[in-house]
Amino acid sequence: MSETKRGRVGILTAGGDCSGLNAVIASAVKYGMSVGYDFIGFEKGFEGVLSPMMYRTLDARAVRGISHLGGTVLYSTNRGRFGGKKGVGDGNQIPTDILEMAKNNLQELGVESLIVIGGDGSLSAALQLAEYGFRVIGVPKTIDNDLAATDQTFGFSTALGVAVDAMDRVHTTASSHHRVLFVEVMGRHTGWIALKAGLAGGADAILVPEFPFEVEDFVEFLRERKESGSNSAIVSVAEGAIVAGKKSYEIAGSSEVKFGGVTTRIMQLVEAIAPGEFEMRATVVGHMQRGGSPNARDRNLARAYGVGAIDALLNGEDRVMVSLRDQKIRTVPIRDAVSTLKAVRSDTLEYQVARKLGVFIH
Ligand code: F6P
Repeated sequence: MSETKRGRVGILTAGGDCSGLNAVIASAVKYGMSVGYDFIGFEKGFEGVLSPMMYRTLDARAVRGISHLGGTVLYSTNRGRFGGKKGVGDGNQIPTDILEMAKNNLQELGVESLIVIGGDGSLSAALQLAEYGFRVIGVPKTIDNDLAATDQTFGFSTALGVAVDAMDRVHTTASSHHRVLFVEVMGRHTGWIALKAGLAGGADAILVPEFPFEVEDFVEFLRERKESGSNSAIVSVAEGAIVAGKKSYEIAGSSEVKFGGVTTRIMQLVEAIAPGEFEMRATVVGHMQRGGSPNARDRNLARAYGVGAIDALLNGEDRVMVSLRDQKIRTVPIRDAVSTLKAVRSDTLEYQVARKLGVFIH
């Protein structure tokens, strides 16, 4: 424990949970305490900072034995009064009275800076608080791995493992029954999980948001497979895939877009063009991808981010997000980090490999 007192730091986890959040919290607290910070953990994302506040002290005891656990001991939410994005990626201005309440509440508790562990929506919200005059350090979190400012977000690797396992498991039913088996995975704007899990899991078609497709071409592909003697097919589908020019989602609240239903739509469209030709079934992997213990890669990345956030504080930084670049932790302005998504492109290695292997990916 350090003799130097450096001040009080708040930590919160916002947006959808993913594996590795607790490892970030534990590492930030452990390292931070050793250099003289003390910590308050706010519960349920930014809601815990707003009145009535929900918070607790985080010390060595509070974070002991949590790094290997999934979820977040601080709880989270992807809705509420502090929504930084609305609809599909549109910015949302947080009202001044809410920003004022957050700033006053933090100051009343003696909190001098806030570590926000979140995806682009939560980091956009954090940036607004920072621009309102409160010091913020961001830690990137999303299983979708779609933030351009970092090589990888924690939770992605674990999610990928779950998705590959799902692909592996449906192969047997697909081949035993001569069926087309769809495996729908997460990825609202980008198809990183669908692409990487699809390639690893031997999918015959990979449908991602970045490469919209027409159902006629897909049916053609399935027919050709059948004619060449392949009676089954595995299809890896990102929830945000665009078929016939449309994504499948619903606006479930003022700041929330709920994805789902794309596979059902694809199956209906296939059936309309080719009635009775293909026996199709769908598996939606869903929140299993976000749950459970983080794998070794995600734990270590999360630990590195936790330590990196404290180093950013020690370096006097503000409005930055810790990021992984070429196996090193750096910081980037949050503004840059939330403005660009990392999308699958035609020069992405796995995309090119999939194409050369004859996988349907447009
Ligand atoms: O943003 C991460 C993500 O995993 C998306 O891929 C998915 O659409 C979303 O979370 C689902 O969130 P929830 O069901 O918790 O609202």
